[in-house]
Amino acid sequence: MASPRLKSTDGYLPEMDDTERASRDAIMALQSKRLAWSLRHAYDNVAHYKNAFDKAGVHPDDFKELADLAKFPFTVKTDLRDNYPFNMFAVPREKLVRVHASSGTTGKPIVVGYTKADIATWSNVMARSIRAAGGRSGMVIHNAYGYGLFTGGLGVHYGAEELGCTVVPISGGMTERQVQLINDFKPDIITVTPSYMLAILDEFRRQKLDPRQCSLKIGIFGAEPWTNAMRAEIEDAFDMDATDIYGLSEVIGPGVAQECLETKDGLHIWEDHFYPEVIDPETGKVLPDGELGELVFTSLTKEAFPVIRYRTRDLTRLLRGTARPGMRRMEKVTGRSDDMIILRGVNLFPTQIEEILLATDWCGGHFILELTREGRMDELTIHAEARPEYWDGRGLTDHADRISTHIKNTIGITAKVRAVAPATLERSLGKAKRVHDKRPKG
Ligand code: DLL
Repeated sequence: MASPRLKSTDGYLPEMDDTERASRDAIMALQSKRLAWSLRHAYDNVAHYKNAFDKAGVHPDDFKELADLAKFPFTVKTDLRDNYPFNMFAVPREKLVRVHASSGTTGKPIVVGYTKADIATWSNVMARSIRAAGGRSGMVIHNAYGYGLFTGGLGVHYGAEELGCTVVPISGGMTERQVQLINDFKPDIITVTPSYMLAILDEFRRQKLDPRQCSLKIGIFGAEPWTNAMRAEIEDAFDMDATDIYGLSEVIGPGVAQECLETKDGLHIWEDHFYPEVIDPETGKVLPDGELGELVFTSLTKEAFPVIRYRTRDLTRLLRGTARPGMRRMEKVTGRSDDMIILRGVNLFPTQIEEILLATDWCGGHFILELTREGRMDELTIHAEARPEYWDGRGLTDHADRISTHIKNTIGITAKVRAVAPATLERSLGKAKRVHDKRPKG
């Protein structure tokens, strides 16, 4: 268990609301009551859910206890896409105070909507998340998640205001200005994707500023998979506490689950609003807690856009609660099933490569995975950017070859590793795009 460092504070005492203090039994009783409502609400007000339940031969009245949820059908991304833009809403359009949309790599985006009460719920879980990360009323928060259709910027913004923080709504991009405002406004907290935090770190160094001397004490990083190795990299560079935040637009946005500062041992799911299951992605069978599988969520309180057994495609396992014993944790997400590379039969996630690269001295965590095809064989090339102080101007071939051998010995795949010069790989302003698939389509 890592203890918090909080630069300017000696002791750290967590602050919790009544629900965070509630027992597991109390949470489960609440979930049962709320699930019954949510199933009924979806069935009565969204044609898709009525059809899907009828087709599966289940009715909201069949739900008597938590285990009954498994009888209800899953919802998948294409269900949402097929109902573009507004057909998944359970309230008249006039009741929506906001919509967001997830970018979606292909085709139409997925549109989600919120009533006034939904925004209040979201602000509440986001405020709770910031507090669990060590944030307090009165702190300044530099919010570098993108504002707009993406849920990151506004989701964090409303939660920070709810908690009583001063928000700097800088959004993503203009990295030089990010550093200037961090120096001038002296924020306590930064909220940003971990990959963009590395770009901010580079900019500190480019300006010959010592990041450890800056005011930041707390980082709340999410929206993409990242490893404990990356946590160590960022915490050491900034002398800050870095915690993980998880969420997805379909379920509400950021603030579905948050790592607690005092334990940093995976993310507590705010189970009073979001009911998690982990399933075997092949068979759809619900797996016992502790087993790795695909995360599925059912919303318990959402009015405008209820989701029933929504398959996230994110891979993780459920664990018992620690810092908040009434709520279960999810392990840091290994990756999305969509990002999994299968190379000659071996499964690989970009996070595995991140861990290996960050264990070296020479690579600072900027990397991409390039897939090409030579004849019938798929080839993987890892482009890993060298830290400036290690760059030899040629390609660090010995170092790169050593990583290639290590990957072969530990993961079991053959990959070319190319060390590239500092500041040559494209920086993400939000979510990093790790996999570049250049194989011929079809
Ligand atoms: O990324 C919401 C968010 C914003 C979360 C800011 C945290 C901070 P979407 O754009 O809909 O929503 O993308 C959701 O991003 O299904 C995961 O695959 C991935 N993801 C989000 N948080 C994490 C995390 C926002 N902490 C998708 N670790 C999800 C790993 C994450 N993956």
